[in-house]
Amino acid sequence: MATAELKSSPVEAFIDRLHACKNDQQRIDCVQQNALSLDDLAQYHFFGSNSYGRNLIYHHPEFEVILMCWGPDQQSSAHDHNKSLCVMKCIGGELEEQRYKANPTPQPLSKTQLSILKAGQSCAITDDEGLHTVGNKTAENACSLHVYFPPISSVSSFSIEDGKEKKLTSAFTSEYGVRIVS
Ligand SMILES: [Fe+2]
Repeated sequence: MATAELKSSPVEAFIDRLHACKNDQQRIDCVQQNALSLDDLAQYHFFGSNSYGRNLIYHHPEFEVILMCWGPDQQSSAHDHNKSLCVMKCIGGELEEQRYKANPTPQPLSKTQLSILKAGQSCAITDDEGLHTVGNKTAENACSLHVYFPPISSVSSFSIEDGKEKKLTSAFTSEYGVRIVS
């Protein structure tokens, strides 16, 4: 592997900076302040056939970096983050993040904060701040960079209508630039 070449890439430099972070605030700042462009991330840019694309860029016991590619009207379910810190930054297009508070089942989730993330804007969430959906409500494609501290192997997904919970295992559209789902 051409280590020297990788070290000089913008993605590798970002990963090095993430490893140097000492606490959650530094991690949030690091993701928010990164200047990775769609061009820098082009090799990880895959859309899913039935859902939004989840493209693994980097995995380490401390954190994982994922590029999500959202077609028009594609949206996640309402989910938690399995005790991890999630920091996400919109890289292109526009995304909507709706936060929810869970209620005793069978009651609907309660909407809390709604944010529109335009390219360059970011947000961070932990389970203490509730659940959220992320989606592309526009007619254009959108992309977002997500970093999870530590990596998430499964999340709980919740029905917005009655709060019913089910486990979702993380699946990827591509790993390290290679499509694994047709
Ligand atoms: Fe999330």
